Amino acid sequence: MSQVAAPELDFSSEVYKDAYSRINAIVIEGEQEAHENYIRLAEMLPDFHDDLVRLSKMESRHKKGFESCGRNLKVTPDMEFAKSFFAGLHRNFQEAAAEGKVVTCLLIQSLIIECFAIAAYNIYIPVADDFARKITEGVVKDEYSHLNFGEVWLKENFEASKAELEEANRQNLPLVWKMLNQVENDAENMAMGKDALVEDFMIQYGDALSNIGFNTRDIMRLSAYGLRAA
Ligand SMILES: [Fe+2]
Ligand SMILES: [Fe+2]
Repeated sequence: MSQVAAPELDFSSEVYKDAYSRINAIVIEGEQEAHENYIRLAEMLPDFHDDLVRLSKMESRHKKGFESCGRNLKVTPDMEFAKSFFAGLHRNFQEAAAEGKVVTCLLIQSLIIECFAIAAYNIYIPVADDFARKITEGVVKDEYSHLNFGEVWLKENFEASKAELEEANRQNLPLVWKMLNQVENDAENMAMGKDALVEDFMIQYGDALSNIGFNTRDIMRLSAYGLRAA
């Protein structure tokens, strides 16, 4: 593994800025996806409409924060790459929403995308530039509360949601491993190891499944689904 030690990072080097153009774009696009997904969820869950609109507004604040991180490093985010990076999860969310499958939508946004964001931000914070670190530390606190929203709703509807959660996990978790493989080199050039990202994701996702009500055996099976094939 060719992980660069944090003190050697040169945030103005071409190697760093090239990697950052894609990673920063992914983060910006991820926050945009989250913003749109919570607006859609607010329509699907009228009892929680105002809470979900509040979450969607937090996501667009996050997006603005990360755009300023790119500007600070004089990097132009590669948004086209980021859109294709999220295409699979985007399509699955849209299809589920069109079918009124709220459990699948919550799994994709409130569990998978939030856990993916939390893992990435946790691993990024210790190796970020000072400007981006402060922004990311503020954001990650919000993401934990978004994850909690999904956990609480799914816990309260656990028995009725279980089968759909299993199916949605089977359909979407392999996309996460694919996405992590796609950014492995760029992440390493920013001193973020893929193994650490995978590990942190599995911890967040496993904790979420546990809070929802799955037992240990289910969690092991669900949270590693498709990992070996990746
Ligand atoms: Fe966010
Ligand atoms: Fe979030």
